[in-house]
Amino acid sequence: MQIIHTVQELRQWRKNAGRVAFVPTMGNLHEGHLALVREAKKRADHVVVSIFVNRLQFGQGEDFDRYPRTLQQDADKLAGEGVAVVFAPDEKELYPHVEQRYNVEPPHLQNELCGRFRPGHFRGVATVVSKLFNIVAPDVACFGKKDYQQLAIIKGLTEDLNFNIEIVPVDTGRASDGLALSSRNQYLNETERAEAPRLYRVLNGIADALKGGNLAYADLESAAVRELEAAGWTVDYVEIRRAASLETAHAGDKQLVVLAAARLGQTRLIDNIEVDLL
Ligand code: PAF
Repeated sequence: MQIIHTVQELRQWRKNAGRVAFVPTMGNLHEGHLALVREAKKRADHVVVSIFVNRLQFGQGEDFDRYPRTLQQDADKLAGEGVAVVFAPDEKELYPHVEQRYNVEPPHLQNELCGRFRPGHFRGVATVVSKLFNIVAPDVACFGKKDYQQLAIIKGLTEDLNFNIEIVPVDTGRASDGLALSSRNQYLNETERAEAPRLYRVLNGIADALKGGNLAYADLESAAVRELEAAGWTVDYVEIRRAASLETAHAGDKQLVVLAAARLGQTRLIDNIEVDLL
């Protein structure tokens, strides 16, 4: 496995690489990332994993500075998965100018759901993913469904900007108690970690209610918020949306997704569950 730090070297390697599957990450890899890598391996001759903590997608006061940077441990994990290349550029390599001059601006969806609470986040994601797509030029790229809104935005930009890349959504990896795997879980203290699986339980409760024929979306959302708040969470949102587009759900919609973001102490967790009423 090679660790490549520059765009030029990556492009050189890419010339002879055949079919490539790509997994973009910010490092600090856990089983959820490795599941993306295993999915990628099934689909191409070579897998490239990028590790880059992207300043552009962090807002003021967010955890950019303390985001764990663990390149050596990450590389050790990836070597065991048969990855061909780890692309780990430094900041100057991807952002040589003081300010990124050209950005990829997603549509209004970027200001909804998580975007309401993280202004500029999805613009930062769309910009770095577009740059990485241009550099790696993969045939396939794998993204986790845990970041459901990110996945929708990346599908949209791939289509609208004509990237010739198949986007493969991968199911959320979970701990045995249901908590969605995330690098941010390590910020939770012991009490918070014990409480954290409630988020998924609450989403499952809504999914069961929907499947049982209760389509009072607003009531289901507010009951979920109340349950979380009563257990000490600060809730950003719990929303039922159309799965394909993330538009507001209407009565009669069959393919839904229930999404939530909420904070336990200082740690913001997100999760979602797809609900198929067909
Ligand atoms: O999901 C992530 O880890 C990041 O948002 C991504 C896609 C690697 C872009 O920085």
